[in-house]
Amino acid sequence: MIAQLLGPKAQQRDLLIENLHVVQDHFGHLDKESITALAEVMRLSQAQVYEVASFYAHFHLNGPPAPQQSCVSLTCAMFGVGKGAPVPCVGRCAEAPVSLPRAQKSPPDYIDYAAYDYTTYRQYKGQSDQVLHALEAANLRGLGGAGFKVADKWRFFDKATNAVLVINADEGEPGTFKDRHCLERNPHKVIEGALIAADVINAKDIYIYLRDEYADIRQILQIELPKIDTDGRVIHLRRGAGAYICGEETALLESLEGKRGLPRIKPPYPAQQGLFGRPTLINNVETLWRVQDILQNGIEAGSKRFYSLSGRIQKPGVYEAPLTITAQELITHYGGGLLDGHKFKAYLPGGASGGILPAYLANLPLGFGQLEQYGCFIGSAAVIVLSDHDNMKTVCTNLLDFFNHESCGQCTPCRVGCDKLSNMLRHTLDTDLAQELCAVMRDSSICGLGQAAPNPLLSALTYFAEDFT
Ligand SMILES: Cc1cc2nc3c(=O)[nH]c(=O)nc-3n(C[C@H](O)[C@H](O)[C@H](O)COP(=O)(O)O)c2cc1C
Ligand code: SF4
Repeated sequence: MIAQLLGPKAQQRDLLIENLHVVQDHFGHLDKESITALAEVMRLSQAQVYEVASFYAHFHLNGPPAPQQSCVSLTCAMFGVGKGAPVPCVGRCAEAPVSLPRAQKSPPDYIDYAAYDYTTYRQYKGQSDQVLHALEAANLRGLGGAGFKVADKWRFFDKATNAVLVINADEGEPGTFKDRHCLERNPHKVIEGALIAADVINAKDIYIYLRDEYADIRQILQIELPKIDTDGRVIHLRRGAGAYICGEETALLESLEGKRGLPRIKPPYPAQQGLFGRPTLINNVETLWRVQDILQNGIEAGSKRFYSLSGRIQKPGVYEAPLTITAQELITHYGGGLLDGHKFKAYLPGGASGGILPAYLANLPLGFGQLEQYGCFIGSAAVIVLSDHDNMKTVCTNLLDFFNHESCGQCTPCRVGCDKLSNMLRHTLDTDLAQELCAVMRDSSICGLGQAAPNPLLSALTYFAEDFT
């Protein structure tokens, strides 16, 4: 039965997560019998299947999932969490508070293949130098969080053979929903950017790692991908399974290989040894969107990015604005100002990881490298606005609970540190002890999750010490 469900690729090891989805979609959950049968069909041990299935929040080993889910991440929490099973940020912060039915939503209107034109790809095909010069001139940096210069990253693949391109569409940072905005409206623009990247690094395989919550986008891509002339390249669409850590590039590679999303120790870097040991370029959805935009519309297009704006404002949403805009300008010109009866108190410039700044620092440009001296960073440009109705201890408890829930548990400073901070915040906080713990987490965690988890608490202690007494 399971072998029939899975079809001819049933034994492909890297498809374990895909196969778990197929089995769960069919039976409603994953019981002991289906795990045993899947292990047999895939010629894996039951432990191998179980350790993967139990790592991901979207695999239900103890019966079917709750019919309704409510997001408990910061933006939703400030508007009152609804009924249903608690889930972390679902990438719909403009609609907060969000409760989701399990049923798939129908896809929104989007620019389909017939309405799109791959002229830019055709124009730049085989013109790597021109592409790299344009991206350099535009000073394009990665928009997934780390802000690495795109042209520099692509140049690592100069002499690489057998390279792979991965599109990071995992978008799990609380407050971030701009990649959803791109893919729901103009998926071919992202794919065209990816084809340009694949041409420059000579990649024959392109993987899209799409977060499981974006079922509507999965539907769009399933319809649209087969229509594209990829010049012989294969585009593989892979479905995440509810793990924020899989947005981290090396955890993502593990997940694509059908394993638990445990970040790898670097080096080797993905460009040296990535997916299946092959040189791998990983770029964020919006980064590839911008690549296409710069080549089509000129380097000026590189001076903008999408901001996911949410929280205590009149008009939350995704707004395209200059890299140098300030939070105050974003709130006033795009967000329609604060909600009635609210006074601007603080903002998170880069989601849960990027720290918290007070309203009196809302006139700082939000560009790369501008906020570090204030203990923050722009990251994925998820700007969450807080007001005098928000207590910073409560805010930090919410954020630390998120990191604690999402830590992969692989390294002690992060696993124990997130748990301890989250507990300490529920009592009178010993700030010296908390700061010491934060320093250990920053210095000795394996990946960016554990290193950045202390950010909101450290900045809140700097700017809002009174909220912790
Ligand atoms: C915990 C963690 C989660 C991350 N989540 C995402 C994500 O959801 N999407 C993303 O593009 N990058 C995410 N990143 C950054 C990626 O590791 C990587 O830097 C990025 O995908 C590279 O693409 P870019 O250079 O185009 O920004 C995350 C990093 C960390 C440490
Ligand atoms: S820092 Fe946290 S998420 Fe990253 S590897 Fe360590 S335990 Fe896992």
